[in-house]
Amino acid sequence: MSGKSWKSLLRGCCGSSSNDQQGKLASKQRSLQRLSFSEISHSPGPLSPSDLTVSLAGSNLYVFSLAELQMVTGGFSNSNFLGEGGFGPVYKGFIDEKVRPGMEAQTVAVKLLDLDGVQGHREWLAEVIFLGQLSNPHLVKLIGYCYENEHRLLVYEYMAKGSLENHLFKRHFTSLPWLTRLKIAVGAAKGLAFLHETEKPVIYRDFKASNILLDSDFTPKLSDFGLAKDGPEGDNTHVSTRVMGTEGYAAPEYIMTGHLTTKSDVYSYGVVLLELLTGRRSVDKTRPSREQNLVEWARPCLNDTRKLMRIMDTSLDQQYSHKAVQKAATVAYQCLNHTPKSRPQMSTIVEILEPLLDFDDGMIGTFVFSVETEVVGEEEEEEEKKGCNGSGNGNYHKGQRHKMRSSKCGRHSDVLLYRNSATNYSRKGTGAMVVNMECE
Ligand SMILES: Nc1ncnc2c1ncn2[C@@H]1O[C@H](COP(=O)(O)OP(=O)(O)OP(=O)(O)O)[C@@H](O)[C@H]1O
Ligand SMILES: [Mg+2]
Repeated sequence: MSGKSWKSLLRGCCGSSSNDQQGKLASKQRSLQRLSFSEISHSPGPLSPSDLTVSLAGSNLYVFSLAELQMVTGGFSNSNFLGEGGFGPVYKGFIDEKVRPGMEAQTVAVKLLDLDGVQGHREWLAEVIFLGQLSNPHLVKLIGYCYENEHRLLVYEYMAKGSLENHLFKRHFTSLPWLTRLKIAVGAAKGLAFLHETEKPVIYRDFKASNILLDSDFTPKLSDFGLAKDGPEGDNTHVSTRVMGTEGYAAPEYIMTGHLTTKSDVYSYGVVLLELLTGRRSVDKTRPSREQNLVEWARPCLNDTRKLMRIMDTSLDQQYSHKAVQKAATVAYQCLNHTPKSRPQMSTIVEILEPLLDFDDGMIGTFVFSVETEVVGEEEEEEEKKGCNGSGNGNYHKGQRHKMRSSKCGRHSDVLLYRNSATNYSRKGTGAMVVNMECE
C-alpha cells in the first residue's frame, strides 16, 4: 500500500487528552470488558504513554524503555536478527529479573518500528490494544511494548520455528509432513474462531502464511494485529474500511466493496489451506500465467479426487490420508466461495478438520517433524538435475528448491526465489496493499 494511505489512517489516533475519557476507559478495563480499538484510538486527544498505561491497566503488559530493549537484544545486533516485515526488523532477545525484578526469564522477539517505513503508530497501537487484551493458545503472546518519543517497539514470546511461510516456501527448510500441516491448519482455525466468536468479535484482516508463527512443537499462533478491526456492532452486517491486506489472500467482495466481515477472514483461511495442500504461494509470478493465482488455478480441482491429486504438493510424496486430504480440500473449496454467506464459520471448520488428525489411511510411519538440514548428498544432486530438466509436474516445491544448490540448478533456483520475493513480499515485508480504495 502507499505511504499516503497509511498516513491518512493515523489521523484518528492522535486527538487531545481527556482525563474523563481515560477514567472511563480505565474503569471499563477494570471491569474486564475488552476495550475496542476505536474507544482508545479515537479518544479526544493525543494518547500519551501514561494514558495508554492507564487504559490497559488490567492487561499485564510490561512497559519497557528503549534502553532496556537495546540491552536485551545485544544492541539490536545482526546476530539476533530474525527477519523483517512491513513494520520493521525483528530481533531475538532474552529477558529476566535483571531487566525487571520478578520477571520470568524467557526468550523474546522484539519488533522495532522502522521510522522510515510505511507503517506507524496506528499499527503499533492496534497490536498493543488487541493483543494486550486477547489471550488464547493460538494467538502469539504480547509481553510488553515501548512507547518512547517517536520509538515504537513490541515484545512478544519467542516462536522458535518462525513463520509458516518460511517452512512452506523457503529453501533450507525440509518439507512439512501432512500431519504437521494439518495441525497448523487446525490451530490457526482455532485462533480465528476465537477472534470471531469472542464477546466483541475481531476481524483479523491479514491472515496469511507469514503471520502464522510456529512454536517449538509447531503449534501455530497468529501474530500481527496491525490491520485487525473490531467486528460490526448492533444491526450492522459489516465494517466499511479502506481495502488493506495482502494480494492473493484478500476476499474478492472486500476488494470490490471495502465491506469487511468475519467471512473475509474465512476466505483468507481458505487460501492458506490451499497453500498447505499444494505447497504453492497464493501468488507466484514465476509460474506460467494461468497458474500464477493459486485460487483461480486450484479451486476447480478441489472437488474432483483425480484432479486434486494432481495439484497436491509433490514433496509430500503422497504420505497423507487421502480421505483427510479430500475433506480438507472440500473445506478450502467452501471457504473460497464467492458468496461470503456460503462460507463456513471458523468453528465449523475446526469441527471438520480436527478429527482428520486421526485419519491414517495411506500413511506410512508416524507423526514426524521436519528438521532443518544443510546437507546436499549425491542422491539429491541427481534429483536436482531432474528438477532442472523440468521433469515432474512443474510444481517447484521447497524440497526441490532446498536441493537446488549446484551449478546451473542453483542459479535457476535463485532467480525463482528472487522474483518470487519481489512480487509476493519484499524483504521489508508488505502488510501489502491490494487496492487503494476509500470506502470510509
Ligand atoms: N514472536 C516471534 N518469534 C520469532 N520470530 C518472529 C516473531 N515475530 C516475527 N518473527 C519473525 O520476524 C520476521 C518478520 O515478521 P513480521 O511479522 O514483522 O513480518 P512479515 O509477517 O514477514 O511481513 P508483513 O509485514 O507482511 O506481516 C518473520 O520472518 C518472522 O519469522
Ligand atoms: Mg507478519
